Amino acid sequence: MNLTLDEVAAQVRACTRCELYRSRTNGVPGNGNPQAEIMFIGEAPGWHEDKQGVPFVGAAGQFLNEMLASAGLTRDEVFVTNIVKSRPPGNRDPLPDEIAACSHYLDAQIAAIQPKVIVTLGRFSMARWFPGERISRIHGQARRFGSFVVVPMYHPAAALHQASLRETVEADMAKLPRIIDEARQNSANDEEATPPIVQTRLF
Ligand code: URA
Repeated sequence: MNLTLDEVAAQVRACTRCELYRSRTNGVPGNGNPQAEIMFIGEAPGWHEDKQGVPFVGAAGQFLNEMLASAGLTRDEVFVTNIVKSRPPGNRDPLPDEIAACSHYLDAQIAAIQPKVIVTLGRFSMARWFPGERISRIHGQARRFGSFVVVPMYHPAAALHQASLRETVEADMAKLPRIIDEARQNSANDEEATPPIVQTRLF
């Protein structure tokens, strides 16, 4: 049965599926528009996110907000979450078993929101759809997966720490309005191509 976003959030806050619950302050389910056409998926909550229970509120979040604004988007119209919903101690990389334990929540969020575009931020969320790929090779390129397209991008924190990546992230973000328009067009075409279910009567 499909979960609502509120149900997912309640489960994330009470989650003990992996060891991260022992050291976290708050589970961080995600936030934004429940009907968003576009979803951003980062890595894992950091210190600020763990304290507030809200994703991308620290320095990387400020940069993400600026990048969204440059693409004509606000946090209110998108949905932002992470591949892992509890903070790894000391902001270490999430472990494979932590990512696996959390994937059920991301599946449920994607099913509830039904986005047209998913932007992965960084290599951990990218690996969910592009296992074994290198971000330096495929960043900014949209690929369709059934009813949505996935666009891998560098993590905003990487761009904060490495000035040369900032322009790359800006250029990839600048492509988003067009990618969103194309995804809208594709989903409109899909709806046209799918014949309505007609009740036939047998005489
Ligand atoms: N980095 C992430 O990947 N996610 C957050 O929520 C904050 C920083």
